[in-house]
Amino acid sequence: MNMPDLCIAKDRKKTEIKYIYNDKEYQPLFKNKKYFLRTYGCQMNVHDSEEIKFYLEALGFEATEVLEKADIVVLNTCAIRENAKDKVYGYLGRCKHLKQEKPDLIICLCGCLVQEPHEVEELKNKHKYVDIIIGTHNIHELPELIMKNNHYQDIEVYSNSDEVYENVKYKRDSKVCAWINITYGCDKFCTYCIVPFTRGRERSRKMENILEEVKELKKEGYQEVTLLGQNVNAYGKDLGLNYDFATLLEEVAKIGIPRIRFVTSHPWNFTDEMIDVIAKYDNIMPYVHLPIQSGSDEILKKMNRKYTIEEYKTLFNKIKEKVKNVAITTDIIVGFPNETDADFKATLDIVKYCQFDNAFTFIYSPRVGTLAAQMEDKIPYEVKQERLKKLNELVNSYSLKSNQKLLGKIVKVLVTEESEKDKNKVCGYTETMKLVNIVGNKDLIGKIIDVEITSAKSFSLDGIVKSLKD
Ligand code: SAH
Ligand code: SF4
Ligand code: F3S
Repeated sequence: MNMPDLCIAKDRKKTEIKYIYNDKEYQPLFKNKKYFLRTYGCQMNVHDSEEIKFYLEALGFEATEVLEKADIVVLNTCAIRENAKDKVYGYLGRCKHLKQEKPDLIICLCGCLVQEPHEVEELKNKHKYVDIIIGTHNIHELPELIMKNNHYQDIEVYSNSDEVYENVKYKRDSKVCAWINITYGCDKFCTYCIVPFTRGRERSRKMENILEEVKELKKEGYQEVTLLGQNVNAYGKDLGLNYDFATLLEEVAKIGIPRIRFVTSHPWNFTDEMIDVIAKYDNIMPYVHLPIQSGSDEILKKMNRKYTIEEYKTLFNKIKEKVKNVAITTDIIVGFPNETDADFKATLDIVKYCQFDNAFTFIYSPRVGTLAAQMEDKIPYEVKQERLKKLNELVNSYSLKSNQKLLGKIVKVLVTEESEKDKNKVCGYTETMKLVNIVGNKDLIGKIIDVEITSAKSFSLDGIVKSLKD
């Protein structure tokens, strides 16, 4: 048994990173058995779930979308806000119920939630029916834990992380778009955020390994890769070598995959060289997700975001100026401890100034172990809800406005899948990451096509095919 520990998780003692080549083979011991996997949280978790799926299928399990048919249930959890946690426990209730009917069911929890000691304590005390609890640093151990599990609760969560695994295999969800980890963890310690604790210290993959993966994906016919990290543009800082995110991005672009994206960028690590590379290559998409979090310098300081609003504006304008037709989206938190009306007004002001293409907005949620969770907070929750509502109205008006600008225009869309709602439609994304629903059949999937935009809403566009381009 290995329990998580926040003190160890917080420690940034820089031991040397170990690069480990994973060449384990697995036997399909669970043939005719089914797995049910549910993923919460960010792209990092979505991609980790692709690794988990690989292991489950290598062990012989087949996927099922129906919980009741499962022989193993895996919940890949998130801890970013309290409601992410509530969703997991809500679903766990259903699993517990199922286990009463199916005692052989294996229930496994992984992901960020179980990196938190108090959560694991709760699982240990109140949810003994959970069989396997495995953290974010050792997903590769999942097959062994499943094979040896005997329905006693097995907790294997590590808090330190000086390892990077290479040759990780994935069962990717899409044959068109692929995720690629470039960094793991985060060293920023924004005072509200649990991620540096749950994902550990910042570790970059070596450039040659990333480029190898991109080449492989190109060979397999992938049209788009998204470079993933909590701060992609801090890439390479820990390696002590002579390259950074700008170098990596340029090398990836040269491989010639049609579309390259990257998330998330931290305003503090954005350099002019990075902007120049984005502007230079047509296959680097003109889309930057640049979380601002607040419009108030006072709050940004308390959040430990390391930039002022003036600095953010300068960067924002530079990107807008240099990258043709770029779309910029953001994240915003309202109700950080003791956020005043004036602070909130500053947030509305910066949204009016930047007119973001889209913004993900959240009410601040205290996380155990973070600095902000210890700050006194006199703002009633109703006030925070009111602020969120006001902010969303503003944000949505700009999303609509930016979508309406495309009305009647012809844009390039990479078609990714059939529309869930309407079988006569497919959907995909513009270069600027706007969702478009298009009348057409699934032969279009995987193609980049010219689409005329016929209608615009806040969160999506409708369009018709203008021409096919191979
Ligand atoms: N690494 C990324 C995103 C991390 S989490 C970045 O730094 O931008 C995604 C978003 O969740 C954050 O940008 C922030 O807006 C929000 N978030 C993080 N912790 C939060 C908390 N405790 N309460 C509310 N929102 C939070
Ligand atoms: Fe969290 Fe800040 Fe790191 Fe983003 S940069 S993951 S918000 S600590
Ligand atoms: Fe959630 Fe962990 Fe991602 S806390 S947002 S799944 S890094």
